[in-house]
Amino acid sequence: MSNRTVYLETFGCQMNELDSELVQGQLEALGYRFTEDDARADIVLYNTCSVREQAENKAMSRVGVISQRKREGSAVILGVLGCMAERDGRDMIRRHPQIDLMCGPSELDRLPMLLDNVSRARLSEHAQRLSLDERVALAGKRSRRSKALAAAEDSLEILDLSRAFNPDLDAKSGGRSAYVRITRGCNKFCTYCVVPNTRGAEVHRPPDEIVEECRQLAERGVIEVTLLGQTVNHYRYTHGTALAEGGREVAQVGPSLNAFRTGRFENPNGRATTFADLLQRIHDEVPGIQRLRFVTSYPRDFGDDILEVIAGSPRICPYLHVPAQSGSNRMLKLMNRGYTIEEYYEFIDRAVRLVPDVSIAGDIIVGFPGESDNDFAATVELLRSVPFKNNFIFKYSPRPDTAAITRFEDDVPDEVKRERNNILLAVQAEVSEAVHARWVGRKVDVLVEQVSKRDQHRVPNAAAASPHPGSVALTTEGRALRAPESATKELSGDASPSFAMPSIQLSGRTAGDLITFFDSPAGIDPTSLIGTIQKVRIHESGVLSLNGSLTRGHERRS
Ligand code: 5AD
Ligand code: SF4
Repeated sequence: MSNRTVYLETFGCQMNELDSELVQGQLEALGYRFTEDDARADIVLYNTCSVREQAENKAMSRVGVISQRKREGSAVILGVLGCMAERDGRDMIRRHPQIDLMCGPSELDRLPMLLDNVSRARLSEHAQRLSLDERVALAGKRSRRSKALAAAEDSLEILDLSRAFNPDLDAKSGGRSAYVRITRGCNKFCTYCVVPNTRGAEVHRPPDEIVEECRQLAERGVIEVTLLGQTVNHYRYTHGTALAEGGREVAQVGPSLNAFRTGRFENPNGRATTFADLLQRIHDEVPGIQRLRFVTSYPRDFGDDILEVIAGSPRICPYLHVPAQSGSNRMLKLMNRGYTIEEYYEFIDRAVRLVPDVSIAGDIIVGFPGESDNDFAATVELLRSVPFKNNFIFKYSPRPDTAAITRFEDDVPDEVKRERNNILLAVQAEVSEAVHARWVGRKVDVLVEQVSKRDQHRVPNAAAASPHPGSVALTTEGRALRAPESATKELSGDASPSFAMPSIQLSGRTAGDLITFFDSPAGIDPTSLIGTIQKVRIHESGVLSLNGSLTRGHERRS
């Protein structure tokens, strides 16, 4: 058992948040403790993201600070996890020789071993005289090829499952909301995107394992599960092909992109679990999960079967995150997205028709190489035509080892990118306002997440009581905030101290992912409502959120 203290900071996407939770669980089980203060840690780990340049720059500057501390004599162990370790490991070690270990996203199960290696290497004189290659190898960098093999092994599955099956981890990774990975990696090779390189080939987990993980989480009090994958609607598991000893099903490589279009899958006679089947199974077999959500969807091959399951299942959230990226067919083609904008519109029409109150979010890239005023106008048109609740808008940045960086010049000037970005933000604000306004006067279910930022200073421990005690929450800076484990303890009912508590504003999300504020009833510990689903009547709406009040008969957390 180790008694060392770790500081872990997460950058980027939800996949990374989940990876960090799993890393923490794995290390805690081995006796490592976690701190929120990097200055007090024996080990500093950055879980990095390579999708956009900005996230990389931020992580590099943090690495720079710790490197400097090490040059000044600190003995802290510095580790880089995630996509930057995978993509840029060699170069990083060259620039920051103070980095002790690197661990790509598909080999996180090796982290304890790598940490152990660092400690041993420090004791060895030989390690002080290593070449760059040797240091890179020692720090743990492996190739994409070995990663594909690692994906076929199922050690990573064990990491995913560790949280669900190790009761010791339960208290820490508890909370009411959890991520469950259904696929890893991506095979789409959109020309701008680094993910196929950093996260490797697309691998699908067996459905029994996914359902079991959900069941275990539900048993431990989780009421919201978000299924994670780069293109979740392409989930498809063919039974009877990938078996381990004893006939247990293991993760398998996903079908080709083409198969979804032609309907000709490799093993046409094999029984398969599609994404629609998977949703249906989790919904029916794990009713304790009151909210089942999933991200991210690919706007291709999103069948009516999935939409019908969503529409027919009260506990599946009518929420779709389906990035369009651009409204221009010419850009979509250069991006290798594999669909036309007409197909995107057709999908949205179907979703709106088949799923009542469907809530749609997306991503857009502005300033992709060659984007003309006309191309951009088509994107403005897209934002005006689809009732997006929000769009994440990104300025294109060329990423290393992508098709776009080698084939196309990054020829849209930064001022133009910025201007287009601002125009889209303004258009999206109007659209978001209209989408939110439709909810005024209606009653919605809100999963209460936290005391609103506005009132946190009025509630002792409010930040601690916020969303998922023990799990990682991110500030806008990407800094990890970790809620102390005690957060859930004082919650609830009649045992709570009683109060002349003024009413405090709480915030949460509707099933369609709309942020909603409401006041806690006076006299009740507001934190006792965190982690429950409450009925809220909406009085007001804005660009970013709804405002309402609790209807009578609210429930407290048991
Ligand atoms: N430049 C800008 N945005 C990008 N994204 C992915 N790669 C890039 C890039 N090179 C955006 C896409 C994707 C989201 C996760 O990040 O919109 O959907
Ligand atoms: Fe990247 Fe495209 Fe895969 Fe999404 S679908 S992760 S944008 S390659």
